[in-house]
Amino acid sequence: MTNMFVHRVRAIVPYLACLHLLLANSTRLDAGNGEITVESKGGVVVCVSPPAAEVGLAVLKSGGNAVDAAVAVGFAQAVTWPEAGNIGGGGFMLVCPANGKEPVVVDYREVAPQKATKEMFAKGIDWQSAKTAGVPGTVRGLELAHKKFGKKPWKDLVMPAVKLAEDGFTVNAALAKSLNEVLSDPKTTNAEFRKTFSRKDDAKWQNGDTLRQPNLGRTLRVIAEVGPDAFYHNKDLLLRVDSKTPADLLEAEMTFSNGLITSKDLVNYKAIERQPIRGTYRGFEILAPPPPSSGGITLIETLNILENFEVKKHPWNSPETTHLVAEAMRRAFCDRARYLGDPDFTKFTVNTTTKEYAKKLIKGIDLTKATRSDTLAPEIELSKESNDTTHFSIIDKDGMAVSNTYTLENAYGCRVVVRGAGYILNNEMTDFNPRPGVTTRTGIIGTEPNQIAPGKRMLSSMCPTIVLKDNKPILITGSPGGRTIINTVLGVVVNTIDYEAGGRAAIDAPRLHHQWFPDRIVIEERPDAAKLSAALKMLGHTVAKSAQQGDAHTIRIDPKTGMRTGIADHRRDGKALGEQ
Ligand code: DON
Repeated sequence: MTNMFVHRVRAIVPYLACLHLLLANSTRLDAGNGEITVESKGGVVVCVSPPAAEVGLAVLKSGGNAVDAAVAVGFAQAVTWPEAGNIGGGGFMLVCPANGKEPVVVDYREVAPQKATKEMFAKGIDWQSAKTAGVPGTVRGLELAHKKFGKKPWKDLVMPAVKLAEDGFTVNAALAKSLNEVLSDPKTTNAEFRKTFSRKDDAKWQNGDTLRQPNLGRTLRVIAEVGPDAFYHNKDLLLRVDSKTPADLLEAEMTFSNGLITSKDLVNYKAIERQPIRGTYRGFEILAPPPPSSGGITLIETLNILENFEVKKHPWNSPETTHLVAEAMRRAFCDRARYLGDPDFTKFTVNTTTKEYAKKLIKGIDLTKATRSDTLAPEIELSKESNDTTHFSIIDKDGMAVSNTYTLENAYGCRVVVRGAGYILNNEMTDFNPRPGVTTRTGIIGTEPNQIAPGKRMLSSMCPTIVLKDNKPILITGSPGGRTIINTVLGVVVNTIDYEAGGRAAIDAPRLHHQWFPDRIVIEERPDAAKLSAALKMLGHTVAKSAQQGDAHTIRIDPKTGMRTGIADHRRDGKALGEQ
């Protein structure tokens, strides 16, 4: 299919969706390459993995609320989207209960093991080493969300994942591509990983194959039947996997692979309930996660800067808007490096999310010329030397909204599968600033707030976001993509609020990224890239291109009609499903 054709198909999707709406209460529209928009007056689930979306929808249909569905999707994707869905990683879940009750962020970010040291990556990082694994948070996070909001029994929410792992599920084109890529990489050396994810005949995965993960199935069954403690404690449990609990198996793996996590680290792990960061943008309220994610603060700082300009005066993709947005991004990302880290270890000396603070920053923005990132933080000495996550959005019939991003950090984490337990370990420790004091123009950050310490949570960019109008959700969004996450979410918010773009258009629009250093704007592939890039260079920017930025599985809610639109991002295969 040519690019032009894909663009045309995408352009007509919203209109076709409206037409279908006349015919049914919940409408699915497949644009032919796996991208789906759904409209429903009931619950909606949007995520990267079709079998997991089916699990979430079944939970909603059987009377579960949005958090029940999120717990079930979270576990299901640990089976069906192994590059990022996980029980061996961590993330952030933003829950906005129905009826205007207080929103909550469940922080289930990994923590540094007690054996971690500040200088452990100072001489370089082996990204596939078990030493890069932080203490996994996902099982505790889903437990906390369920305890606070869930209606259905825990077991009922984990069992669909058990079934998918034990019976197997159908591999789609996106998963086949992802598995083939990681297996053909010579850096994928872990034998258990290869055993778990290779086809029996070692041939390439094809769309339509079946993937079974019996070890992961056993681990999930113990989590379902014994409870979350089975993952974290290795003593006094009634039921054991081959006489070992998942926690025993992780401990054995750490000894075998020279990892740092001990059984004490596991027992001590806690998910934390936090208040979301709240901001406003042109009369809408923005909710997003607080530190240890940089997502909320950086997003709101950028929006506060932009609010001082009449953004929509220029078309979204024009050089003028791109310049302005990039200038806002560069400043917010500079502050991210300056100030942000785990709040239990870092004192925030400046509140960068106020409107007054943004007013100070805009004084430095020249609409005709790029700022040099070098000039923004003179106190940080710049040294001379020289992906994967997934987001899902859910709303239930009553209006409870869940925005969840979780990750193993790189695709398939450190590519170590815990022997016997069948799950992949994260390499989240690489999100700490690796070399204390070394901040480079290439984008390495060495500032103090995010340096490694035992028990500390590494700074994240994950940004599950909910936008409210009159206290009711109108947008549920988030994305993978490391530091680009925040700017992907920013783009979706600006498209929605400034440009009043429809659901599909707000997601399909080309994206951009600036992160202070490297000092360049990265623009997503688009038909007018050459023209845009030439205009930005005239303003003094360095411009780079990316094939794709992010994967924002999003829900829009029309405040007038109550209609919900689920929009699976076209950038990877995703699925949007709605209740009839
Ligand atoms: O927490 C973070 O910000 C990163 N570990 C996320 C990594 C990521 O999004 C990679 N995906 N494409």
